[in-house]
Amino acid sequence: MKMFDYSIKENILANKVILVTGAGAGIGKEAAITYAKLGATVILLGKTVKKLESVYDEITASGLAEPAMIPLDLKGATKQNYIDMAATIASQFGKLDGALLNASMLGELTPFTQIHEQIFDDVMKVNVASQCLLAQALIPTLQLADNASLVFTSSSVGKQGRAYWGPYSISKFAIEGMMQVIADEYEKSNLRTNAINPGATNTSMRASAYPAEDKEKLATPADIMPLYVYLMSDESLDVNGQSIKAQ
Ligand SMILES: NC(=O)c1ccc[n+]([C@@H]2O[C@H](COP(=O)([O-])OP(=O)(O)OC[C@H]3O[C@@H](n4cnc5c(N)ncnc54)[C@H](OP(=O)(O)O)[C@@H]3O)[C@@H](O)[C@H]2O)c1
Repeated sequence: MKMFDYSIKENILANKVILVTGAGAGIGKEAAITYAKLGATVILLGKTVKKLESVYDEITASGLAEPAMIPLDLKGATKQNYIDMAATIASQFGKLDGALLNASMLGELTPFTQIHEQIFDDVMKVNVASQCLLAQALIPTLQLADNASLVFTSSSVGKQGRAYWGPYSISKFAIEGMMQVIADEYEKSNLRTNAINPGATNTSMRASAYPAEDKEKLATPADIMPLYVYLMSDESLDVNGQSIKAQ
């Protein structure tokens, strides 16, 4: 498997403030720690407080910039929660240089006719509606930065539908669309908007979709970090409206 070809330079994210959703586990955890190691102050958003605290501890124990934590369940959060969150970020940090919208839920893999209405609604709420509300609330704070990067998280099944992947696949198509709409609207601004397709990566979400596969053969979250760093760094200032594979 060929990883996105980009060599990461030391301190490339110095002085940047970057929000990562789903920062407590999997790819989001790796991205948060990587961004902190490269000089960023990270804002950790996630559902499970314990997981956020453990990422916070890992970052502070390494002597890196102290992160902020935002425990929030995207399934229950309201528009006002996101507006309040953005206001807190603006008052605490004065700007937001990057937002990695990474959190999502798989729902269940099932034949199309057997998709449960509740699971469809939950997946659309977490993977689509909350991403829209998050982006709406965060854009004004992103506009306070010299250059800002909004990064959505897609999937191969957001590019090509796949049998039994139901709501999750549909939700990732919506993410591709949302990314393109925002990228086009803000084309002539300080804000660039792109999406990452991580590709098969060894996390608990991947394990629940493919419980029997050999995990040793999968990329690790660390393997796919070059693209995650590139899109947050000033080296990607001209990149907008793209959906890019991390592998
Ligand atoms: N791994 C892959 O092979 C792969 C492939 C293609 C795309 N992706 C995408 O990559 C992203 C990261 O996935 P991953 O593999 O790292 O998954 P993961 O290990 O399951 O992590 C998902 C993260 O999202 C958080 N999250 C889930 N539901 C949430 C909610 N309602 N509110 C707030 N946070 C919530 C989880 O928090 P808790 O742990 O607290 O629940 C967790 O930190 C996702 O968008 C996924 O669709 C992954």
